[in-house]
Amino acid sequence: MTTNKRANFGTKLGVILASAGSAVGLGNIWRFPYMTGEYGGAAFILTYLGCVLLFGAPIMMAEFIIGRRSQSNTARAYQKLAPGTQWRWVGRMGVLAGFLILSYYSVVAGWTLEYMVDSGIGTFADKGPDDFVQFYNSFVSHPWLPVVWTIVFLLLTHFIVVRGVEKGIERSSKVMMPALFILLLILAVCAILLPGAGSGIEFLLKPDFSKVDGSVLLAAMGQAFFSLSVGMGCLCTYASYFKPDTNLPKTAFSVAVIDTLVAILAGFIIFPAAFAVGIQPDSGPGLLFVTLPNVFQQAFGNVPFIAALLAVMFYILLALAALTSTISLHEVVTAYLHEEFNMSRVKAARLVTGGCIVLGTLCSLSLGIGSDYTLFGMTLFDFFDFITAKLMMPLGGFFISLFTGWFLDKKIVREELTNRGTLRLRIYGLIVFLLKFVAPIGIAFIFINELHLI
Ligand code: PFF
Repeated sequence: MTTNKRANFGTKLGVILASAGSAVGLGNIWRFPYMTGEYGGAAFILTYLGCVLLFGAPIMMAEFIIGRRSQSNTARAYQKLAPGTQWRWVGRMGVLAGFLILSYYSVVAGWTLEYMVDSGIGTFADKGPDDFVQFYNSFVSHPWLPVVWTIVFLLLTHFIVVRGVEKGIERSSKVMMPALFILLLILAVCAILLPGAGSGIEFLLKPDFSKVDGSVLLAAMGQAFFSLSVGMGCLCTYASYFKPDTNLPKTAFSVAVIDTLVAILAGFIIFPAAFAVGIQPDSGPGLLFVTLPNVFQQAFGNVPFIAALLAVMFYILLALAALTSTISLHEVVTAYLHEEFNMSRVKAARLVTGGCIVLGTLCSLSLGIGSDYTLFGMTLFDFFDFITAKLMMPLGGFFISLFTGWFLDKKIVREELTNRGTLRLRIYGLIVFLLKFVAPIGIAFIFINELHLI
């Protein structure tokens, strides 16, 4: 694949599934519940939904416009659309963010593989809530086991990325998305039926707005960007492979809806189950991994085979959902190196994988033997999460909305959103208004408020 003859996604469904595949991942099923638990439940969720609608969805459309129009990786895109300006730094920051996210995301993705194996060989049979907490703590702090899984996951990602866009990404997304959704539904029903699940449902549905302060706003905004894969050029890179007749607003809308549904569904598994077995909702990054085994045990414990089968299926699908996200992260950096530095795709991909193995190993170790080394009071793992989700992605989103809302010729915006006038789009004015005013002002307000910038 070269710059002038770029690959395309094969079908319309493929476009939606590949973008949704990037969006749906650990961000929905692992990060969303623990953020919701840490920042107070229903009020956080409502703030999050507001951020998806006002910032996430319109900025996703903006990325689609930039990517498809420029037909380039995210850094080159700005050079093409705004030659000789500093806008290219927005693209470069996105590439860096992608590289950092891939490093720590692969650590958690690796955990899903360990849990898949353990569920399969019966490690969790006859165990209770305290055992699961203990298991999680000793596993993540183990000196080499989680590192090995991180590397395995990065290598899996690597091989799909070097096989190219259409075959790798599209095919893997098509199968797993619907399967994952159905299994999540089943698990949500099981969790809701657990005795004592009621307080978990209340936690999800009864907002306490007195809890919404600057830190909640920043966390909800960061979660919206992270979960939708928006603000760092990932969907911009994907859109460069879209066809001229791909309906951009509709694709963005579908992706945002699918992504949000999956996150909410994950909430309806984790919190009813956590409250039922007495796990604190603010248990942090381990929440999913200490809660979920309880659902399998409590709902199917008397038929261990079914419990193990469902658990293995769940972790396989979770790993696949993570894989379609790591592929998209990898692709951002690989496409950048390949097209900007004139290196082969394979060499570019090798550099990315190698770099991520080094950083991912450090992130993984920072949860165990390296936990004494902190940056601004955070482990390396938490630090990477903080600077990417809470700073770089919203900052990227801020500039992307300014670029599309103010800098880019409105003729281009209209042409891309309406496929050169062939689609009717009643909300064109609303999209431009959100990009011009609401998104940049909203993001700036939240930054100023929480990071005490003034
Ligand atoms: N959106 C992914 C998730 O929710 O798991 C994470 C992610 C993928 C973030 C790709 C950013 C990105 F470019």
